[in-house]
Amino acid sequence: MARIIGGLGTSHIPAIGGAIHKGLQQEPYWKPFFDGFPPIRAWLGEQRPDVVVMFYNDHGLNFFLDKMPTFAIGAAAEYHNADEGWGIPTLPPFRGEPGLSWHLIETLVEQEFDIVSCQEMLVDHACTLPLKLFWPDGECPVTVVPVCINTVQFPLPKASRVYALGRAVGEAIRSWDSDKKVAVIASGGLSHQLDGERAGFINKAFDLQFLDSLQSNPQWATQFSIHEIVEKAGTQGVELLQWLAMRAALTAAGAGVRPLHRSYHIPISNTATAVMALEAV
Ligand code: DHB
Ligand code: FE
Repeated sequence: MARIIGGLGTSHIPAIGGAIHKGLQQEPYWKPFFDGFPPIRAWLGEQRPDVVVMFYNDHGLNFFLDKMPTFAIGAAAEYHNADEGWGIPTLPPFRGEPGLSWHLIETLVEQEFDIVSCQEMLVDHACTLPLKLFWPDGECPVTVVPVCINTVQFPLPKASRVYALGRAVGEAIRSWDSDKKVAVIASGGLSHQLDGERAGFINKAFDLQFLDSLQSNPQWATQFSIHEIVEKAGTQGVELLQWLAMRAALTAAGAGVRPLHRSYHIPISNTATAVMALEAV
């Protein structure tokens, strides 16, 4: 059976793509963010996962406001990026893992999660940037199953539902008849608000409490309603639900997690950024 080796989380701001393209990683503005990655890349180099299951949210590239699934899973052999209008370079396509995609879709639907299955799926910065950040050199060495959780268009799934989904995804990965090693990635947040009266809102105290909870008390965030999360983390800060799903998938993997690395930096663009790696033990 497949094995989950651990979970990674990262913010996914489009400007990161521009910084990579222009080689600005060592500039004072960017260095604190990019410095969070080398220790995690070293661990990935040792562990060599075969497959990534990526929890992320699409921002209007594949699903626009007229059709917004709560939960969608990619089942394609290849995923393409496209121009999203942020002025960032389009990244090359990467390979899917259709066998795991269909195993997840079938298992989750059987467990009464209503999943939209996507045999064609464009992927935006939220799905492409983590791959480029964790594997910056050459072709992406892992295959990918994108799991899209709506954190964009209300109504959003509540934290406890996202936790249940993450746990079910973790259990389904573990029951996949394969000897492949799987890493789970969360792409999103942490606190940020891009528009409205509170544009620029960041809540460091809440973010740090949330990151702590992922290590020691993974269900902590499920106590909050969506409106409470928006209040505490900002309208786009609800993307932290992706991290909650990742952590829940690890819960299914075994006894616990060992924190490998974590960094937190304010701000990149309008966002409190974080990078984290948890090893399943
Ligand atoms: C920004 C953050 C995001 O999560 C996103 O999807 C787009 C932009 C930002 O801070 O600029
Ligand atoms: Fe986002």
